[in-house]
Amino acid sequence: MSRRTSNLDRTRWTGDLLELAPDARTLEVGHGPGIGLEASLAAVPRGSVAGLDHSRTMHAMAAKRNRAALGAGRLQLPVDDAEHLPPGLGRFDAIYSCNVWLFWTDPVATMAALSDLLVPGGRMAITHLPRHGNATANGHQGCRRPDQGPDG
Ligand SMILES: C[S@@+](CC[C@H](N)C(=O)[O-])C[C@H]1O[C@@H](n2cnc3c(N)ncnc32)[C@H](O)[C@@H]1O
Repeated sequence: MSRRTSNLDRTRWTGDLLELAPDARTLEVGHGPGIGLEASLAAVPRGSVAGLDHSRTMHAMAAKRNRAALGAGRLQLPVDDAEHLPPGLGRFDAIYSCNVWLFWTDPVATMAALSDLLVPGGRMAITHLPRHGNATANGHQGCRRPDQGPDG
C-alpha cells in the first residue's frame, strides 16, 4: 500500500487541498501504513499530527515509519474506530482521509462527527481514488474532485 505511485499521488493531492500552515494540528483518519502522516509531519514542522486507525497492523506500520516523530511527541497514534470517535482526541486545523470513507457504515454521520473536531475555519478533505473498471481520471460516475465542475 505504501509503495504504489497512485497511493502517493492521492496522498499528495489530499495534502494540497488542506493548504497546511507550518504550525497546523492535523488528524489523518485511516492512515494505513503512514505515508500521509509522514507527509503531514514534513508539512507542519511547528505543528502536530495525529493518526486514527482501527487496525493494529496499520498502527504498527505507521509507528515504525514515523518512529522519530512519535518519540519526539509530535505524533499521536490512537488505535480506534472513526465511527465511534474516542473522547479527548482534541481539536484540529485540518482533518483528512484517503480511501477510507467507503468502509464506513454511515459516512455522513462520521464526517459530521469529524467536522465537530475542527477549529473555526478548519478544513477537512475526504478523498477517494477508485480502482474499479469504470474509474477515469475524474473518478467515476457521481464522484468528482472538488475543483472540477459537474462536467469536469
Ligand atoms: C484502503 S486503506 C487506506 C490507507 C491510507 N489512507 C492510504 O491512502 O494509503 C483504509 C484504511 O482505513 C482504515 N479504516 C477503515 N475503516 C476504519 C474505521 N472505521 N476506523 C478507523 N480506521 C478505519 C483501515 O484500517 C486502513 O488502514
